Amino acid sequence: MIKPIIVGNWKLNGTQESIKIFLNLLNKFLVNYHEKCTVVISLPILYAYLIRNTLLFDNKNFFLGAQNTDNHNSGSFTGEISPIMLKDLGIKYVIIGHSERRFNHNETNRMIANKFFLLKKENLIPILCIGETKQEKLENNTINICKKQIDSIFDICGIQAFNDSIIAYEPVWAIGSEISATPKEAQFIARFIRQYIVSRTNDRIKNFFIQYGGSVTRKNAKNLIKQKDIDGFLLGRSSLQIEEFTKIIEIIHV
Ligand code: 13P
Repeated sequence: MIKPIIVGNWKLNGTQESIKIFLNLLNKFLVNYHEKCTVVISLPILYAYLIRNTLLFDNKNFFLGAQNTDNHNSGSFTGEISPIMLKDLGIKYVIIGHSERRFNHNETNRMIANKFFLLKKENLIPILCIGETKQEKLENNTINICKKQIDSIFDICGIQAFNDSIIAYEPVWAIGSEISATPKEAQFIARFIRQYIVSRTNDRIKNFFIQYGGSVTRKNAKNLIKQKDIDGFLLGRSSLQIEEFTKIIEIIHV
């Protein structure tokens, strides 16, 4: 079995105080999980310095993540943060294409592909979020939507794009809801994603991972991670509570 990768996407949550408490507890917990799991926390980026102040920064299986990047490296783009800046800060993983950014910030597949391109150029690891809305699911369009979202990356970044990268399958209807995809549904799409990428990459893909995200909790984590093509999780709410987050890390090793 490959080493699972768990990413906490904290979205717009946390204060200096709450983050310090969380990180200190996580640090104690991770002492026993050095070799078993890769853990990434994508916190609001202005708080990244708090991670530098904890021992977590020395844990070789713990990484700092970002929730977004701009699709330029520098210039007149007020309010943005670039891949080069993220790298400068010691960040390794960067979430892009989250549905909350696609919908709330009108991000297109092309913009997201440009971000992917720049991240790869800086040797950062993109976590590309893809997935269908409820309506698209009802219309049996899941595969088409995912394929389009993946194709736009191939178009801009070439056939080797997905080496050293992650795709997070996050059905939009499962995010922030009480309904997760069933393990069978998640596996079906994860398998499609893997087969499609392998077929377009001529079998030469390396260090490519598929995560599932959308209402993962301690209750459903075990059955989801058992699925052959699911290599880890992208967690929202469950990554905000230290008990729930560490419980999920424990569960996936049993
Ligand atoms: P929830 O786990 O809260 O459903 O959020 C998932 C998500 O959006 C992670 O990126």
